[in-house]
Amino acid sequence: MAAPTLPRDPASRPSAAPTPETIRGLPRRLGLWSAVAVLIGSTIGSGIFRSPAGIADKLPGPLPMLAVWVTGGLFALCGALTLAEVAGARPETGGLYVFIRDGWGRLPAFLFGWSELVVIRAASLGAISTTFAEYLLRVTGHDPAQAPYSDWVHYIAAVAIVLTSVFNYRGARSGAVVQNVTTLAKYGGLLFIVLLALAMGLPRTGGSHFTPATPPGSFAVGAFGLALVSALWAFDGWADLSFVAGEVKEPRRNVPRALIIGTVAVIAIYLLANVAYLSVMSVEEIRHSRLVAADVAQRLIGPAGVAFVAVTVMLSTFGTLNGTLLTAPRIFFALAEDGLFFKPVARVHHRYESPYVAIMLTAALGVAFVMLRTFEQLADQFVTAIVPFYALAVASVFTLRKRADWSPPFRTPGYPVVPALFVLATLYLLGNAILDPSSRWATLATLGIVAAGIPVYYLTVGRPARRG
Ligand code: ARG
Repeated sequence: MAAPTLPRDPASRPSAAPTPETIRGLPRRLGLWSAVAVLIGSTIGSGIFRSPAGIADKLPGPLPMLAVWVTGGLFALCGALTLAEVAGARPETGGLYVFIRDGWGRLPAFLFGWSELVVIRAASLGAISTTFAEYLLRVTGHDPAQAPYSDWVHYIAAVAIVLTSVFNYRGARSGAVVQNVTTLAKYGGLLFIVLLALAMGLPRTGGSHFTPATPPGSFAVGAFGLALVSALWAFDGWADLSFVAGEVKEPRRNVPRALIIGTVAVIAIYLLANVAYLSVMSVEEIRHSRLVAADVAQRLIGPAGVAFVAVTVMLSTFGTLNGTLLTAPRIFFALAEDGLFFKPVARVHHRYESPYVAIMLTAALGVAFVMLRTFEQLADQFVTAIVPFYALAVASVFTLRKRADWSPPFRTPGYPVVPALFVLATLYLLGNAILDPSSRWATLATLGIVAAGIPVYYLTVGRPARRG
């Protein structure tokens, strides 16, 4: 039933406003460094400021904790190196969706759109806005872990989702500006925390938190896999650049370079940040510190430090929130254009020219999720739902390379080991999460929602009659 490829090339069709071609016809105006900024901007968000507690809880030792960040970074790099080949050769709007469609056919491509619509984007909006809300409460002198503020976290997060959605509903003209400003703020802010911690914290503690490197009970293969899921939330975003590859100048050269430069820059700052946290706080303290960056700053320079960090995190999360709503509609557009998705989802507002239906749907689900779940649950749910599609997109390189006309400007180094490692790591992550009783049901429920897209496909856009 699923055709292996679609004959027509959407990028080559003429443009007409204000259909999806408007988006595809956007001028290529992102240079190399803007593309790097898009990648860094969509990756650094909440995770590096929020995930260390959960990771320290699963792997309570300095070396295992740092190892999980290195592993998460290598996972992202293997993915980025492979997507660099695929995206370099097919720099089209739609990114992952295009690779999944061309590599594996219509059903998996539909499932990806379905999962983005019902789980992935909403969970991501939820996790990011939760972090935003927690840091906002902290800087205003409230402890987000205590009642009644623990409830307020959910309300504030919901309001943040609604506000960014309204902003995007009214047209995303200012989106790129917000993106650039917040990217600078987040990388700079993080770098500042790192320098401060290394200059002031390290002399005080003398590096005592780094020994013993692997205390008894701080490492187990299963726990490592679960912690890796949390780290992957922080590393996620490397694939987002592929969604806007159609807007990058000289894409065959710049897309692969930006993917590599951006991913390496993120890995570097994340490792430094974790070393910085550990040079101020012990593993046990990090384990109980939900807002680790604020706690580190509090110890080093007191309330002024907390205010600085909180503003950095709020800008950072706001930027990512905005980016999430900016890129998502492009996926739905690309799908609907190919007749693979519910047309109304790709409807464009006549006045604001924004994909308002997709925005409202994503926002409504995001609000529902954020009211019911915690940061860790949302971040893990996001990773569980998205990694199967990353694996499919990465593995598309295996089928695409068999094509006679395949001439990528960049070839994945270490092929086929690098993409194969990525796919194997995905299988380990999901298998491990299903085997572990603590994550089993949540994982199966999420994968179940993804799979529920199969009957939906056959009942709607996949109906054989539709093609006749
Ligand atoms: N890595 C980001 C964070 O730590 C989340 C990325 C969300 N996903 C995305 N594709 N933009 O908050």
